[in-house]
Amino acid sequence: MQRTPDKTERSIPPGTVCLEDYQRHAKKILPHDVYEYLASGCADERTLARNRAAFDESTIQPRILRDCSNGNTECRVLGQRFRHPILLGPVAHQALVHEEAELATAEAASLMEACMVASTLSSAPMESIAARLPSHKWFQLYFHKDRGFTLELLRRAEAAGFEAVVVTVDAPVNGARNRIQRAGFSLPPAVVEANLVDQPVVEQRSLNSGQSVIFQGLMSEAPTWRDIQWLRNQTSLPILIKGVMHPDDALGCVEQGLQGVIVSNHGGRCLDTVPASIEVVASIRAAVGEEFSVLLDGGIRRGTDVFKALALGADAVLLGRPQVFALAVAGALGVAHMIKLLRDELEICMALSGCPTLDAIGPSALTGHY
Ligand code: FNR
Ligand code: LAC
Repeated sequence: MQRTPDKTERSIPPGTVCLEDYQRHAKKILPHDVYEYLASGCADERTLARNRAAFDESTIQPRILRDCSNGNTECRVLGQRFRHPILLGPVAHQALVHEEAELATAEAASLMEACMVASTLSSAPMESIAARLPSHKWFQLYFHKDRGFTLELLRRAEAAGFEAVVVTVDAPVNGARNRIQRAGFSLPPAVVEANLVDQPVVEQRSLNSGQSVIFQGLMSEAPTWRDIQWLRNQTSLPILIKGVMHPDDALGCVEQGLQGVIVSNHGGRCLDTVPASIEVVASIRAAVGEEFSVLLDGGIRRGTDVFKALALGADAVLLGRPQVFALAVAGALGVAHMIKLLRDELEICMALSGCPTLDAIGPSALTGHY
């Protein structure tokens, strides 16, 4: 049986020069079912493919002879200064690919001055992850059926020094994850959800015949706008909602007094045949105005993708799968190298399109239209 490579076997393979190279190597070394869990989307994977295709179809306008000698990739997100606009988004269960799991990822984030968003479903406890990050650390919160326990997670995140809460709302029900089902993947018992070990046992609601596991089951526990308002009143930390795909939902976040949105379709893992996140970001930016934080994830694999997301209105982007593929291949070093590759590509793109700063990247930097 294939097994996850151990520490001594990990180094950056020669010729690893872009993010897709990490995915290729990860596929070779990871057990098939684990790779399928990480790489797949849901159903027919139309959205997974579209997240990439939409970037590929959009084209950049090169400009010449502009002075870029004072260029930099600095930006402000939630009022905080970021050295570059590349964040590590929340990805659960990182012990699947590396014995140090999120602790290694955090080390890389810290080294590369990248903000890291730690998942509720991390293998390492949120406090240990936070301890590896001097700053630029956000916590991703999944609501739990027991709202008291949800509040406990929030209090722990505050105490650990996390600086913002990202509430993911696009996955109250799992998508039809056919590739994962075909691969027969299930979480090995050794991969724990460290933040949830003290979770109170909640009584399973028994459904009558004729009731739906989806509607009367899972959706009866899912958060609604009212729960977001409740959360807003519980904390002074900035709150962002992840999974926003409609301008009116983004406006709802503004009206609720939240601080930002993450335009995302969960990497094509929840509802298939929805648009790519890059296809909807411009309309969301237009709805919320210039001051509100808008971030984007889904399919970012090249510096030119980061550039396109910024051109269409995102303040910054998040990476999902690339961080776990790099982690699997070469641990903390791999994740740090992966971020560096992407940042270097972004700088090259800015220089060759005549945009010395992120503020200079606007819709006119692209020739394609949405
Ligand atoms: C995720 N994603 C995710 N999102 C979240 O809010 N909490 C989580 O725990 C997870 N876990 C998770 C596990 C795995 C294996 C994947 C692939 C994704 C979604 C993630 O944050 C992000 O939205 C997408 O992965 C972005 O797309 P790319 O960069 O993977 O194309
Ligand atoms: C996933 C969950 C953990 O996408 O968000 O697998």
